[in-house]
Amino acid sequence: MYKILAKTLFVGKNLIFLPSCHSTNEEAQQMLGAGVMEGTMIITENQTKGKGQRGNSWEAEPGKNLTFSFILKPSFLGVQSQFELNRVVSLGLHDYLSDMAPGFQVKWPNDIYYLDKKICGILIQNSVKKNHIENSIVGIGLNINQQGFTNDRAISLTQIMDEDYDLQQVLDDLMQRIESRYLMLKNGRKEQLKSDYEASLYRFGEESLYRSNDQVFTGKITGVTPVGQLEIETLQGMRYFDFKEVEFLH
Ligand code: BTN
Repeated sequence: MYKILAKTLFVGKNLIFLPSCHSTNEEAQQMLGAGVMEGTMIITENQTKGKGQRGNSWEAEPGKNLTFSFILKPSFLGVQSQFELNRVVSLGLHDYLSDMAPGFQVKWPNDIYYLDKKICGILIQNSVKKNHIENSIVGIGLNINQQGFTNDRAISLTQIMDEDYDLQQVLDDLMQRIESRYLMLKNGRKEQLKSDYEASLYRFGEESLYRSNDQVFTGKITGVTPVGQLEIETLQGMRYFDFKEVEFLH
């Protein structure tokens, strides 16, 4: 059971708790039809068919982690600026986690890593009207108190900090940070958000290995374009990638 968030202005003021559901993003999608208010949040303790990026699934042990979605109505954003939402959500998560320990980074476009392991996945689904974003469903899976994972590239907060966390408290503090990044965007502070994002970016400016179209290459991330393409400097010059076009190798 979760309570309405105390520290935010509008996110989570309408909070719907479902003991179990297939996917909070899907639940949010269905609620949009009924005209819900901005900030409405759907949270579950047991997500049975969690959706990830690239058609993947998202697994979380019941009762141990945060799995939730909330609705934004960023009609001030044009379709070309959809990536700004990825930026603010990942920065809010990064702000919250970085207060606990060093080592958290944003992996483009919007995963959160601790060193080389993933602690959080974000799935943003937008609907567009007249070239503007009408509704955005922001789904977040944050690993908190889970002790082990079948995937050896996953990690939780408890494994990093050696502490157990109160999920309601984490949610309240975290959403304050995400909301405040969203309000920065609404107030036009795009340049600040861009530089904060680059400062928190995994592998930024580091020579690393990537794969695209079955070709492995070395390059250095030098930025992310306004439409969200990853910019990598390679021996053959600058290359630009959409999500799904490039794989980070280890
Ligand atoms: C990814 O990294 O692939 C994104 C994972 C997103 C998972 C969250 S959990 C809450 C919300 N509901 C879903 O079905 N997916 C997102």
